Amino acid sequence: MSSFTDAVRATIVRALDLPADTKVAIGTPPDPAMGDFAVPMFPFAKVLRNAPSRLAQQVVDAFDPGNGLASAEASGPFVNFRLDRPVFLTNLLGEIAERGATFGHAARPAVDADGRQLTVVIDYSSPNISKHLAYHHIRSTMIGKALCSIYAALGWRVVGFNFLGDWGTTHGMLIAAWKMWGEPEGVDLAEDGVTKLNALYVRYREALKEDPALDVLAREWFAKLEGGDVEARALWSRFREISLAEFEEVFSRIGVTFDALYGESFYEDRMDPVLADLAAKGLTTLSDGAVVVELADEQMPPCLLRKQDGATLYATRDIASAVHRHEEWSFDRALYVVGKGQTLHFRQWFKVVEKAGYPFAGRLEHVAFGQIRFGGVKTSSRGGNVTLLHEVLDRAADQIEAVITEKNTDMPAEQRREVARQVGYGAIIFADLSRERVKDVEFDWERLLAFEGDTGPYCQYQHARIASIIRKSGVETAGAAPALLTTEAEWQVALLLSQFPEKVRHAGARNEPHWIAGYALDLCRAFSSWYAKGNKDPALKVNCDDPETARARLALASAVKQTLANALSLIGMAAPEAM
Ligand code: ARG
Repeated sequence: MSSFTDAVRATIVRALDLPADTKVAIGTPPDPAMGDFAVPMFPFAKVLRNAPSRLAQQVVDAFDPGNGLASAEASGPFVNFRLDRPVFLTNLLGEIAERGATFGHAARPAVDADGRQLTVVIDYSSPNISKHLAYHHIRSTMIGKALCSIYAALGWRVVGFNFLGDWGTTHGMLIAAWKMWGEPEGVDLAEDGVTKLNALYVRYREALKEDPALDVLAREWFAKLEGGDVEARALWSRFREISLAEFEEVFSRIGVTFDALYGESFYEDRMDPVLADLAAKGLTTLSDGAVVVELADEQMPPCLLRKQDGATLYATRDIASAVHRHEEWSFDRALYVVGKGQTLHFRQWFKVVEKAGYPFAGRLEHVAFGQIRFGGVKTSSRGGNVTLLHEVLDRAADQIEAVITEKNTDMPAEQRREVARQVGYGAIIFADLSRERVKDVEFDWERLLAFEGDTGPYCQYQHARIASIIRKSGVETAGAAPALLTTEAEWQVALLLSQFPEKVRHAGARNEPHWIAGYALDLCRAFSSWYAKGNKDPALKVNCDDPETARARLALASAVKQTLANALSLIGMAAPEAM
């Protein structure tokens, strides 16, 4: 039994003979004297055609003490549970020690009705080539990476998918710009190639405003690229390689790796069959020479699949890629971690897929997120003021290093650099993941790097602090007697620990890593207020004078350390042992 909530759920499911995956709302009674947890029976009254108070009685009648639960009492439409604290604590600390880095993870793979492991394909990051990873790319990249970790923890087979933006008219523009200026001006792409490519692109866009013929030229180059023209191909693949190498460098710093990398270009020859199929199903129409799927009945503009000039589009490639992903991995769920600015695009092509009756139609989900704003201004990566992701990471690490240098004079320089990177990057990641993803994120250097408040450094600092307390105590926690944990502050910490598996499930069910970030903060605060009790009363110190009590408290502290590290790891953050 991984937590009390599981025990409570199991009790109710068994007593009322409900399906195992029934959602059970677990709250606290208005008065702690009534019990530790209260479960309302209203949600089951309708399905079971019985009065909530009768259901409450039914649960109480079937209740057997065990799994950390001591008693169950009916109170009107509620069942109030009381925990057997010593048993509960012993089970909990035992489980955390035993599961270690996998505490909070599912013990078994997630399977469908036939016992087949569930698969999720998570499309994330998916940057466009020939430009830098801008700071705002952190959003899709880290939300996606966190979701990969969370689903894996929940027992899913996860395919992290990078749908590289390496196709489309933009690339015609780049080639045209290269031919017009890059090559004649002898631009050397060997060094900082992406900056130079992006500059060419920006210059082209500018020139285009004055000279519409450049638009035609760009289209011609893209048509050549699509047609397999040798020169166009060679240039495009060079730009692509340069970009990939740069992406790789940044990704490796923040621990991002993909299971599958298929650029949009991969779908070139997979689009015709899709277009033919949609046509055969009578879904496509011609509109001014362009191929579209009318979606007026869905109150949406038509989904454009092929332009007059024959060029295919983003939506066409997305549909072809979904078909491919399904063929390849026969996914149960496919997530697209992409900014909310693309909501219409996803709604449109999801609808096309549905109309076409593809077997995976209901399994696609756009996991949308808000924008990043600097002082209220949205960032954009093409043209104009760009804040680059690697610059933000560097600056964060540098600033944190300065703080550590001051705080911890004993730390060897090499370790300091390493920890500064972990904490600096962690600060950026935490700031990105600590709010509901659809909300916009206001970027604020000072706030995000602070060692106090709702920040990554605060969580990591608490982890390092617990590590230091354990190290300094020199106490061996094996053989601890959790029954000696009798204070309310200890109990609050233990309760939170037990809720971790539930939080992971929650985060997965809603595709919301911020549940994990919020949990890490709550745990740090609970630990801190427990620890602070010892400042006033030496008997309440974690490493107090009584050796057996100290052993039990240090065992609880170790469990906090482990659980905190597990939570941070799920959102892509390291947990340093010292700071
Ligand atoms: N490359 C696109 C962009 O930067 C994001 C791709 C998202 N994934 C997808 N399957 N459409 O806007």
